[in-house]
Amino acid sequence: MSPETLPLHAPLPPLGESQRATVDAAIAAHQSCEGPLLPILHAVQEALGYVPPACLPRIAHALNLSRAEVHGVVSFYHHFRSTPPGRQVLALCRAEACQSVGARALETHIRSRWGIDFGETSADGAVTLEAVYCLGNCACGPSAFIDGKLVGRLTPERIDALLASRERP
Ligand code: FES
Repeated sequence: MSPETLPLHAPLPPLGESQRATVDAAIAAHQSCEGPLLPILHAVQEALGYVPPACLPRIAHALNLSRAEVHGVVSFYHHFRSTPPGRQVLALCRAEACQSVGARALETHIRSRWGIDFGETSADGAVTLEAVYCLGNCACGPSAFIDGKLVGRLTPERIDALLASRERP
């Protein structure tokens, strides 16, 4: 069962000491801002690569919110991950213009090549697949972010080559 589907009352794996410190630093940095929840979640994900479910009660307590409210925000935005990402994150554009020039074939390729769907990480931890909706690069589609870098005119072969070149030490 993925963390997204864990019932809210389920016991959570505890935060490690450094994770706790990271979360507390994010809270301290943004708590006094207007609308602090999203900046805190962004800061946590940027530092840890994901938003550990165990940090939600801590954030909720600091902001005087319920854990359900914080969980609702994390699960609403596709951007937030509740599990650690793979070594590379491939965020593939699923919007119309990219779909019209081959994004669906890329999805099929990725599913069979790595055995993953959107929101999943390959069994070897190499690749996490995420969905995005228009990167403003429609004229050069199909487009994606690979580890935050915009790439266009993708083909299955090009995706494989890009991921392989980044995987090398
Ligand atoms: S539709 Fe994919 S970049 Fe715009």
